[in-house]
Amino acid sequence: MPQRQVDPSAQLQGIDASAGSFAQLPALRSLIEAKGCGLLGHGTRVAGIACAVGARAGLPKSELELLATAAEVHDIGKLGVPDRILLKAGRLTDAEYSVIQQHPEIGRDLLRLAGVRGNLLDVVLCHHERWDGDGYPFRRRTTESPLAARILSLADTVDAMASDRPYRASQPMTRIVGELERCSGTQFDPNVVDLFLGLARGIRSDGWVDRIAATGATQLAA
Ligand SMILES: [Fe+2]
Repeated sequence: MPQRQVDPSAQLQGIDASAGSFAQLPALRSLIEAKGCGLLGHGTRVAGIACAVGARAGLPKSELELLATAAEVHDIGKLGVPDRILLKAGRLTDAEYSVIQQHPEIGRDLLRLAGVRGNLLDVVLCHHERWDGDGYPFRRRTTESPLAARILSLADTVDAMASDRPYRASQPMTRIVGELERCSGTQFDPNVVDLFLGLARGIRSDGWVDRIAATGATQLAA
C-alpha cells in the first residue's frame, strides 16, 4: 500500500498546547479512575498508540503532549452516563445509545468547568466523528475535525478491539488490520490509517498493540 504523507501544519488546525491548562489533569484522572470499568487504563494505552501515530506524522512534542492529554481524558464524559447504560452487558436500545452519544459533549463541558481551555476541548468533542461525516455529535467530515481527534479515533478503536470485553475476547492483529483497511476513508482518515499500518508492519508479534503504545510513550517522554 503506498504511503500517503500527512501535512501536520495543514491539518492540525491550530492546536495550541499552551492554550489549555492541564493543571487539573491529576484530579481528572482520579475522577476517571473512580468510575472504574477500565477507563483509565484504556486512556493511557490510547495515549501511547496516538502518540506513536502522531510522532510518525511528524507532530512536535507540544502537540504530542496535547494528544496524550486528550487521549487520557477523552471518555471523561462517560462519568455523566448512568452505570445501568454504561455497564449494560446486553444490546443497547436506541434511547440508551443516544445517551452514550452525549459523552463527547459532556466531556467537553466537564473539562471546561475544570478550567481547560483551547483545542483540547475540540479534540475531546470530536473523538467519535468519522471521516465520512457519519459520526457524532455533529457529523463533521474529513478535515472538519482536528487531526488529533482523527488520530484519537483510530487509537481508541484499536485499543478497544485489542482488549477483552465481557461479550468477546481480544481481536487478533490480522482482524484489527483488516478492519482498519476496510474502514479507511469511511470511518477513519486514510492518512492516519496508513500511518498506523506503517507502525504495525514493523511489529509482527504477540502484544503488538502494547509495543506500539510503549513506542508512543517513549517518543512523548523524549
Ligand atoms: Fe468515547
